[in-house]
Amino acid sequence: MRSVTVTPSAGFCFGVKRAVEAAENLAAKKKHGCTYGALIHNRIVTDRLAQKGIVCVDKVSEAAGLGTLIIRSHGVGLDVYRQLADAKIDYIDLTCPNVARIHKIVEENSSPDTEIIILGDAIHPEIDGILGHCKTTAVVVKNFDELVQLEKNRKIFVQNAQILVVQTTFDIGKWQEFKKNVEKHYTNVKIFDTICRATIKRQTDSAALAAKSDFVIVLGDPHSSNSRKLFDICKNSKNSKIISSPLAQNQSDVVFVQKADELPLDYIAYLSRQNENFNIGITAGASTPAEIIKEVHSIMSEIITNDDMDIDFMAEVDKTFKRVYIGNRVKATVVSVNNTEAVVDIGTKHSGYIPADELSANPNAQPKDIVSVGDEIECIVTSINDAEGIVYLSKKRVDAAAGLEKLIKANEDNTTLIGTVTGVVKGGVIVMCEGSRVFVPASQSGISRGRRNADEIETPEQLMKKLEVLLKKEVELKIIEVNEGRGRVVGSIKAADKEKNDAVREKFWNEIEVGKKFTGEVKSMESYGVFVDLGGVDGMVHSSELTWNRIKHPKEVVSIGDKLDVYVKSFDLEKKRVSLGAKSPDDNPWTKFLNDFTAGDVVEVKIVSITPFGAFAQIIPGVDGLIHISQISLERVTNVAQVLSVGQIVEAKITEIDAEKSRVSLSMKALLENGSGDDYEDAAEENVDDSEVADDQTAAE
Ligand code: F3S
Repeated sequence: MRSVTVTPSAGFCFGVKRAVEAAENLAAKKKHGCTYGALIHNRIVTDRLAQKGIVCVDKVSEAAGLGTLIIRSHGVGLDVYRQLADAKIDYIDLTCPNVARIHKIVEENSSPDTEIIILGDAIHPEIDGILGHCKTTAVVVKNFDELVQLEKNRKIFVQNAQILVVQTTFDIGKWQEFKKNVEKHYTNVKIFDTICRATIKRQTDSAALAAKSDFVIVLGDPHSSNSRKLFDICKNSKNSKIISSPLAQNQSDVVFVQKADELPLDYIAYLSRQNENFNIGITAGASTPAEIIKEVHSIMSEIITNDDMDIDFMAEVDKTFKRVYIGNRVKATVVSVNNTEAVVDIGTKHSGYIPADELSANPNAQPKDIVSVGDEIECIVTSINDAEGIVYLSKKRVDAAAGLEKLIKANEDNTTLIGTVTGVVKGGVIVMCEGSRVFVPASQSGISRGRRNADEIETPEQLMKKLEVLLKKEVELKIIEVNEGRGRVVGSIKAADKEKNDAVREKFWNEIEVGKKFTGEVKSMESYGVFVDLGGVDGMVHSSELTWNRIKHPKEVVSIGDKLDVYVKSFDLEKKRVSLGAKSPDDNPWTKFLNDFTAGDVVEVKIVSITPFGAFAQIIPGVDGLIHISQISLERVTNVAQVLSVGQIVEAKITEIDAEKSRVSLSMKALLENGSGDDYEDAAEENVDDSEVADDQTAAE
């Protein structure tokens, strides 16, 4: 099916519409007046205005006696305003607000330490006007190579702070490329994305339409720079080619005409007959009047005689003039982002701006981290300048409103949320959570006050210093109070931590069983053992369970902070106590002893303790044997300490091994003669109670 499509963004933009309407009003009221330069780059419009008495002057001096002067949408430099004041000429200033914004930027940023870079067409009147507002060095370039060349020729100095603005109607693709190069090479450049939204929309709409059209018509005056750019954009997007026919040689499939009678009608009709799905795309520059677009649309419709192409594109255009009000929630599409703001399309002819501090409540976030070109976002209109066609918006407020609802719900449901600590204030910290500020008092921050005694007073400054460890950290928190009226939300990191720890502890006690293994950290130490953190629950390892060797204090084998492999020996669910062991059965010295030694072996041993009934001697680390008093010498010994001393190395014979009771009997006497070596029998003979010996040996171990 053949079709004709007109882009809704074709034709007069806000600035041009306003200027033409003002000139026509002036003509209607006063019958005469003048414009400073051609009101718009369209001869049809300017000729019509001239017939109504609105003529064009190129100098202020030419305006004397011509009535009110109109300053067109391109704007003028400060000297023109001065000349108008001096000549006492009445004027209407119709500088487009998008251009006026650039004037303001360059004026506010003019200082001896600053240079201004303007990307645009040096001979365009808009650029002339912008230069007329720069009060410092300013250069105009049309591409990045020119900028590099200027730097080489020392016309600009990279070390200076630089401001970059761009002509409102510049090619969006070339601007993006230029901006990327500048960001890469000159980090000290402050970039202002000043291409107007109407231009961006027209260029992107036209490129998209051209890409899917068989034939493209670009309507505009040959002197209109934005129309010529549109023509180039359409040719590139369509990948334009020459299609010769019996009716036309070397005819391109993208044409740039001022009005309908310049169109190659026979040629278009020929193409249409060749293709039953032939589609024509129509776009137009900002200075093309709607009646021309309408006329071209109607002629094209007749040519392809297609009943389905009844498009009321003027209604589409009118839709874009719809009104917005402060406080309106609107859907916006991000069309560009720089380090100071995001430019958005809100579906009207307004230019929408979201300043960086209205994009997010997080003061550390950069605009590019929050939104990207093409994103669809919800915003609230914060201020409107209808006369200037500018709307300022806030995304932060929409996020905060949605966030507050989530915070209220989290408070009701006792849900844990995640936020980032963005500031330390007197008495606590500020956490950004769900786009809202949440105050967490110091007492709820989870940071210990760390006072050495109850009387010690911590100053507010000391407290704030301590809280700084939380800055920029992601934290879990509970919402403990919401005051909607005052917009105050209070949170607790401590409550979230407690809930988490309680859950861990509950799981621990549910899953605990004897023999279960853990790797824990030694948290504290006593003379009788150490306490090990098993991940929220502490267990105790008695000294005797730390090692197979005899130790007097746990510090001989572990330090606080050591990681320790332990297993559960026993636990008490009611008292929430758990006893742990750290000795590995694989290292049991008794196993090793039984493998390596047998009764009758002669061994070299070290005396480790002296008792009234004999001496204990270490055979291998972890295994001691008893040399009973009767087995020390052939002579009768009455005082062991008179014969043996701790640390002394002696030879002895293993006379008995009781594996069940882990006892070893040794005899020095057996090496001197063939003694029986039965210590326990001898102990009985010596009227020493056997159980006392056993108890003493066990105690010694
Ligand atoms: Fe038009 Fe103003 Fe943009 S005149 S093209 S709306 S800068």
